[in-house]
Amino acid sequence: MTIPSRRTFAIISHPDAGKTTLTEKLLLAGGAIHLAGEVKARGANRRARSDWMKIEQQRGISVTSSVMTFERPDADGNVITFNLLDTPGHEDFSEDTYRTLTAVDSAVMVIDAAKGIEPQTRKLFEVCRLRSVPIITFINKVDREGRDPFALLDEVADALALDVCPMSWPVGMGGAFEGIFDFATNRLMQPSGPSKEFQGTVHQLDGLDDATLEQHLSKDGLAQLREEAELARGGYASFDLQAYLHGDLTPVYFGSALKNFGVGELIAALSAYAPSPRAQPAEPAPIDPGNDEVTGFIFKVQANMDPQHRDRIAFMRLCSGKFRRGMKLTPSGSGKPIAVHSPILFFAQDREIADEAFPGDIIGIPNHGTLRVGDTLSEKAGVRFTGLPNFAPEILRRITLKDPTKTKQLRKALDDLSEEGVIQVFYPEIGSQWIIGVVGQLQLDVLISRLEAEYKVGAALEPAPFETARWLSGEGRMLEDFAGVNRSSMAKDRDGNPVFLARSAWDVGYQSERHPEIKFSATRER
Ligand code: G4P
Repeated sequence: MTIPSRRTFAIISHPDAGKTTLTEKLLLAGGAIHLAGEVKARGANRRARSDWMKIEQQRGISVTSSVMTFERPDADGNVITFNLLDTPGHEDFSEDTYRTLTAVDSAVMVIDAAKGIEPQTRKLFEVCRLRSVPIITFINKVDREGRDPFALLDEVADALALDVCPMSWPVGMGGAFEGIFDFATNRLMQPSGPSKEFQGTVHQLDGLDDATLEQHLSKDGLAQLREEAELARGGYASFDLQAYLHGDLTPVYFGSALKNFGVGELIAALSAYAPSPRAQPAEPAPIDPGNDEVTGFIFKVQANMDPQHRDRIAFMRLCSGKFRRGMKLTPSGSGKPIAVHSPILFFAQDREIADEAFPGDIIGIPNHGTLRVGDTLSEKAGVRFTGLPNFAPEILRRITLKDPTKTKQLRKALDDLSEEGVIQVFYPEIGSQWIIGVVGQLQLDVLISRLEAEYKVGAALEPAPFETARWLSGEGRMLEDFAGVNRSSMAKDRDGNPVFLARSAWDVGYQSERHPEIKFSATRER
């Protein structure tokens, strides 16, 4: 099967670094957001669109901008479809954010030039590293006063233990900003007019020694560019595609999302270097995108917040084969085939029923709770994708009932919601107070409101004496011995796996050092 060109990626950043602004600029650069062949299918599409609106109205589902698709031609004029997956940041930070990164082939890391690497960037980066997801770095806001570019590059290299390769260079920053020089193309992009906005002033040069540079830059600016560029190119790794694809090197672009600087170069880099859909880890063997059989996995479920309905949209990343509307797929969870009649494709502001989709694409599948995060969907039901992890919670809370007669309903609700991936639930060996684990505060708010709205269960959360959790694995007897001694810290997860509830990060380190025969895992594959 020939697979159309896809770049399925996410933007990782700390809040305020400029992810939203960059996303907008990328979509804008993608122009009117169309899928190949859409013009031809316009009539059919209009119908499809209204189908979708009916679904949305009837079920009150609001699918926010979880996936955004746009197209751009590459350097040879071939159309490439970009699927940009949103990774909610800030208070929205949750397991969803992590899992979304399991569905991408590469990532763009946005860094604020004045702030450098911030905590959330680092966290998300670690998840990318777990899966060797290649990263392109975009140092944003060069139109404002920022840190010295060398200091920024060194920080990325040191903090993330990555080789960095500057692909472009800012001529000054903030008030002294005169433009950006792109090393690959020897082009100088300059602001035009007082707004310092990039409006298409591009000078094609022969290199940094090109005499015409004097016409475009101030004397100081030119001297600075020549000196810094030489140092930069001598002092850092040169671009190595394989090292980038392995996640060992990050090409770095400077730019300003707000002023539209460097956005074109970023898209060009994604087109030229970012990987197409790759083989995905699965059992019994990895699945190649070129396989004829349609396979995919669910990485996110967005539930309806409307208490009248239990409908939800499952987001499937297609891993192989050509998907066609109406086709039957079997989820690994329930094992019962479902016909996918209304698969949804996501555009910038729009969604449409997908008639077909290809590896790397994300489709939304409306369902009544049959599809769960981590499910594999396939035509023949013989495969299972691996590596979609549960992450050790960073916030643990005890859950208490307002009405103690509702224990059964609470357990059912917690099992449902943990299957959906909203929370994790741990049942301690001693005592009857269940522990809720999340990685972001927002998940707790969602839990309480959904318990009330959907399950009519009033509950409250209290501090728990634990800070984090680890899944335990090891030989049966060893585990039993450990559990015997540490009973007050032992719990079971929803699937009955043994979990160690740790009072502190130190506790985890201490116990794992004392018990080398037991593995303390911060992630568990679903
Ligand atoms: P986020 O999604 O990563 O949280 O960041 P977002 O794009 O919302 O940007 C955060 C703030 O930084 C916004 O300003 C935005 O305008 C600004 N910003 C983003 N990119 C650039 C850039 O390249 N240069 C400059 N100078 N500013 C940039 P705000 O004041 O919070 O919001 P707004 O009122 O400007 O929208």
